[in-house]
Amino acid sequence: MAKMIEFDDYGPPEVLRLVEGPDPEPEAGEVRIRVRGAGIQPFDCATRRGDFRAYQPLELPARLGNEAAGVIDAVAADVVDLAAGDEVIAFTTMLGYADTIIVPAVQAVHKPATMPWTEAGVLTASGQTALTALDELGVKEGDTLLIHAAAGGVGSFAVQLACLRGARVIGTASDRNHEYLRELGAEPVRYGAGLIERIRTLAPEGVSAALDAIGGEALDASIAVAPKERVVTIADWAGAARLGIRRIGTERSRAKLESLTRLYEQGLLRIEVMKSFPLADAAAAHRLVESGHARGKVVLTVP
Ligand SMILES: NC(=O)c1ccc[n+]([C@@H]2O[C@H](COP(=O)([O-])OP(=O)(O)OC[C@H]3O[C@@H](n4cnc5c(N)ncnc54)[C@H](OP(=O)(O)O)[C@@H]3O)[C@@H](O)[C@H]2O)c1
Repeated sequence: MAKMIEFDDYGPPEVLRLVEGPDPEPEAGEVRIRVRGAGIQPFDCATRRGDFRAYQPLELPARLGNEAAGVIDAVAADVVDLAAGDEVIAFTTMLGYADTIIVPAVQAVHKPATMPWTEAGVLTASGQTALTALDELGVKEGDTLLIHAAAGGVGSFAVQLACLRGARVIGTASDRNHEYLRELGAEPVRYGAGLIERIRTLAPEGVSAALDAIGGEALDASIAVAPKERVVTIADWAGAARLGIRRIGTERSRAKLESLTRLYEQGLLRIEVMKSFPLADAAAAHRLVESGHARGKVVLTVP
């Protein structure tokens, strides 16, 4: 039997429960993965709370989790580039919190041998979002990029990827994360009242682009210091409409994920995991992510 996290109704983290079901079998083009690590996103918490229920109601009980890593133990006959025993990282949709998942083979890539399962489980969602946003912004050498919520899951990847492109990065975070942001390559700045002035102290001419991952006042600050056409948000759809700026959704692909694993293999990408929880403690993991102050990523593990 396979184990998975489900919820029967929208609500607080406690609605998440561990259930058992039949072992799923891969169909054409698919592989079965015995999961070792599965990442949590704020999106999962919002889905569980029912934030999207008005326009995207779920069929309940529902599952969660858009990223996972583990060992393949079965492949469909037509899958030629992956085999049982391969250690992989995969992207999926609302399935990851489980000890066994089925994914299309095109959504899995080989895990670097030196990458721990906890890190492998959290690479794909935030990593691919960060890449998508930097591509949309056209971040390049010579840019000064402002990143809001730079110490979070997406921000931590975005800071490093932007630095690798030769950009100067200014990242917002609370004081306790400033040394961490310096380690990633960013110049930290505290969010809250006076943010625009603090950014201008670091960049008197303003910045050339801004990536928002928190919304609200961060968006107003962004358009005060960056050209509006080079401000994007991944977090605040209402704010984007209010201010007429671009919102970004993640575009995921095997090629994007492989570009991230290559950087890891070259020692150029750090994957920060704040805390691991056993699969059965998904509720506790959600409480941490929902605090809004996780550093890097939070992961569920399966022994
Ligand atoms: N559009 C998409 O496809 C997509 C994909 C992924 C994520 N998202 C969205 O993007 C947002 C960020 O995701 P995430 O996974 O990076 O979140 P996260 O990891 O939960 O973000 C936590 C971080 O936010 C920081 N933070 C809290 N309040 C802040 C403020 N007022 N200003 C600046 N930083 C603040 C915290 O830093 P301190 O602890 O220092 O306060 C913490 O490091 C979420 O809304 C998520 O739903 C969208």
